[in-house]
Amino acid sequence: MTQSRPLSQSELKRLVARAALDYVESGAVLGVGTGSTVDQLIDQLPEIRDRIPACVSSSERSTKRLEALGFKVLDMNEVDSIGVYIDGADEIDGHFAMIKGGGGALTREKIVASISRRFVCIADASKKVDVEAHVLRYWEEELELPIPRNDMGHRYYTDFHIRLFKQVKVLKEKG
Ligand code: A5P
Repeated sequence: MTQSRPLSQSELKRLVARAALDYVESGAVLGVGTGSTVDQLIDQLPEIRDRIPACVSSSERSTKRLEALGFKVLDMNEVDSIGVYIDGADEIDGHFAMIKGGGGALTREKIVASISRRFVCIADASKKVDVEAHVLRYWEEELELPIPRNDMGHRYYTDFHIRLFKQVKVLKEKG
């Protein structure tokens, strides 16, 4: 009997990226995100090259990888819409609430997602976190942000949410 070994994280990333290939719309511009999981996706895109007329990417890093594989990469201003946007996640809690955008492509990836008909987020098991840690850390980071929340229309929290977050933070600090 053969003993199966656990899959490595990069193997898991490759598998979730592979599953995302099924969502690529034939003939539509493909939105491509950024990160190590998306790198695994990009490496597998040549297998479905005939379905992808062009891509829009959320970073220079992904653009370079796509172009090196012979894909046409358009500026997002050149396209009216994107079929599917595929990107990785940062954290997902037990209720499937997700944090997306821990890397350097934060603004660009939100804009690409907003002009895409569908957003497929891919994540391996290492992204699963405890609910409280996930939510509180996000709120704490949110409260530190000096920029206006509605800048560029990509920050969705209202003053009500922020007041609520502050109250929870105070309660948490009180134990
Ligand atoms: C890019 O800005 C980030 O949002 C990444 O997409 C996210 O951090 C996932 O990256 P990994 O696939 O490398 O974990």
